[in-house]
Amino acid sequence: MTTPVLQLDSIRAFYGGALILDGVHLEVAEGECVALLGPNGVGKTTSLNSIFGIARVRAGAVRIDGVELSRKRAHEAARLGAALVPQGRWIVSSLSVEENLLLGQASGRDGAWDLGAVYEMFPVLKERAAARGDALSGGQQQMLAIGRALMSNPRVLLLDEPSEGLAPVVVDALGDALAQLRAQGTSMLLIEQRLDLVMRLAERYAVMAKGRIVSEGRIEETSLDELKNAVSV
Ligand SMILES: Nc1ncnc2c1ncn2[C@@H]1O[C@H](COP(=O)(O)OP(=O)(O)OP(=O)(O)O)[C@@H](O)[C@H]1O
Ligand SMILES: [Mg+2]
Repeated sequence: MTTPVLQLDSIRAFYGGALILDGVHLEVAEGECVALLGPNGVGKTTSLNSIFGIARVRAGAVRIDGVELSRKRAHEAARLGAALVPQGRWIVSSLSVEENLLLGQASGRDGAWDLGAVYEMFPVLKERAAARGDALSGGQQQMLAIGRALMSNPRVLLLDEPSEGLAPVVVDALGDALAQLRAQGTSMLLIEQRLDLVMRLAERYAVMAKGRIVSEGRIEETSLDELKNAVSV
């Protein structure tokens, strides 16, 4: 079997003394999109925070391309190619669109993604390159958060509820952009409540409840109704 691009290997993760993830095992293969599903507060965001050391991993391992991350995770995870599109987007409001994009280069990774490539993918960001981050609409900010992550030339893109708070027509445009990235072979871990988007983008899904994975499956073997049922337990 080939080495997964991202592996959470039976991790137990904590915020302070509170156990949040109790043995989560999750893998993303190269070129694959895995959806991480589940209701509020079960540990989806914490799974991503564990990769960056924001939540403390005290048992198990996180690996990127087979390389186990040490405790100095945040910089190391970025350098090895994990790129987060965070829940709530975290655009720096006082910086311009272009300056926000350049923040993504902090990983120090080279590759095909640069300002020109991101502007080609998201022409609206080029039009608004000089605007302040907080002058953008919600949909434009989400495109900016994705563009910023791409600027790090990631091995795996970690998307935390990208459609949250966006109007349906904007969600469709977002879906088109993510489908384009999928067609280019971008590996993704996608946390998403909009199951139609999950059906469109993901190959596999895992459902979390209370800090554990409780069911998993392949999207092509699952109907939208079956997926809804799997998530609602
Ligand atoms: N910084 C923190 N310190 C302590 N506990 C936290 C912290 N952030 C989240 N939690 C708790 O950890 C648990 C998991 O939270 P997490 O944010 O991972 O959930 P989630 O599945 O992403 O939910 P949502 O769908 O609302 O985004 C929750 O009980 C939450 O209250
Ligand atoms: Mg969350």
